[in-house]
Amino acid sequence: MLVAQITDCHIRPPGKLIYGAVDTAAYLARAVAALNALDPRPDIVIVTGDLVDAGAPDEYARLRELLSPLVMPWRLLAGNHDDRENLRAAFPDHNYLRGDGGFVQYALEDGPLRLLSLDSLDVGAARGKLCADRLAWLDRTLSAAPERPTMIFVHHPPFASGVEKLDGDPFYGAREFAAIVARHPQVERVAAGHLHRATTLRWGGTVASTCPSTAHQFALDLRAGAPLTYVLEPPAYQLHLWRADQGVLTHTVPLGDFPPPRPLR
Ligand SMILES: [Fe+2]
Ligand SMILES: [Fe+2]
Repeated sequence: MLVAQITDCHIRPPGKLIYGAVDTAAYLARAVAALNALDPRPDIVIVTGDLVDAGAPDEYARLRELLSPLVMPWRLLAGNHDDRENLRAAFPDHNYLRGDGGFVQYALEDGPLRLLSLDSLDVGAARGKLCADRLAWLDRTLSAAPERPTMIFVHHPPFASGVEKLDGDPFYGAREFAAIVARHPQVERVAAGHLHRATTLRWGGTVASTCPSTAHQFALDLRAGAPLTYVLEPPAYQLHLWRADQGVLTHTVPLGDFPPPRPLR
């Protein structure tokens, strides 16, 4: 089973650039074209939040136009730049967005790898949050299928990146989240976005990771007190390859105009 992850598309209204400089829509169109060209085709694409930049209806309308050409199924998560109601209004046919208890949380049961999506949005804040209700849903949902290998998607990584300004306000409920995951060894991976960089960590008895943005990245600056800046390093997507004999293996694939592959001789 092949699961593609894209994240942090930060779509703005037509004619508007993020930071006045970055055409996030053009970047997303390129990512969609790259995913459509893949052979074998991913079974599903998961878009892990910060779908748009300001949670606005015209941004979601544009997001819908940009994602609609995807030839494989795709599912959305909410990030700190998203608005649950406007998201649901723009995708009324995406029933799973109605989620559980008002949150955008759902389980995808179709493949050999079970996929769970969590809603880490804390309205009005940049940080991630999993309240008692959301954590209880996770525990309940994992407990319902302990024999099914499972991958969890969530916008915010429940760990610190080392980039001080990104780590400012810690993930609320991270310790409880880790404790639940640690009790369910079928969790093969916790995959997040938000950092606009690729990271990997042992966490909650499993592996946690983040996927780069389809557009701009946050600059890697590990100095104390460093300002948060963005950088136009190559955008990327991730391909999570599930095999029963091996688990989840992740390829981080840069997006850009590179020369075609050449034979070794
Ligand atoms: Fe983001
Ligand atoms: Fe974010």
